[in-house]
Amino acid sequence: MSLRLGDTAPNFKAVTTIGEIDFYEFLGDSWGVLFSHPADYTPVCTTELGRTAQLANEFKKRNVKAIAVSVDSVEDHLGWVKDINETQVTDVDFPIIADKDHKVAELYDMIHPNASATHTVRSVFIISPDKKVRLTLTYPASTGRNFIEIIRVIDSMQLTDSHSVATPADWKPGDDVIVSNAIKTEDATNKFPKGVREVKPYLRYTPDPAS
Ligand code: BEZ
Repeated sequence: MSLRLGDTAPNFKAVTTIGEIDFYEFLGDSWGVLFSHPADYTPVCTTELGRTAQLANEFKKRNVKAIAVSVDSVEDHLGWVKDINETQVTDVDFPIIADKDHKVAELYDMIHPNASATHTVRSVFIISPDKKVRLTLTYPASTGRNFIEIIRVIDSMQLTDSHSVATPADWKPGDDVIVSNAIKTEDATNKFPKGVREVKPYLRYTPDPAS
């Protein structure tokens, strides 16, 4: 069964490039980005894992742990990581799950038989520290994902979890945010001392409370 937003992310034990892990123990109190790729030693996947490694400091700043998965072996993963580090000029420091028995792929519905009967598609699950699924994305094998967008969504979720706001289209940190519709305009001005700009009664902006 597919996982939906708000569902509890299933726990699992898996063999990875850093040894056997329990997923929940690996995550601890961090946010998680669990992402699948179709196969090792393939070009798009090489750039994706390289990009994730290049962004390690951005993930760390946000208390996020990345973990990749594919159905290849640990030996393949370890050999391929050397190529990723060389070609993408980086140092892959996150684990890659060797899901040879498809346990994780099936748990997270990462094999879409009409796309490929045997390999995972490009799935992303963002998981908050309470182990809830907060975002799902599915890309085809031929399209590499945008990891800056994944960080942008995490910024939005971390902001909106702690303030009564939502983020508009194409928002990035520092841009104005939208006042939650649960807040009456007369209360909004007290709650948001930086000011509230009302465009319509249902569309009210305030400066980013975190910047
Ligand atoms: C790639 O990563 O380049 C790729 C993997 C599987 C199918 C197509 C492309």
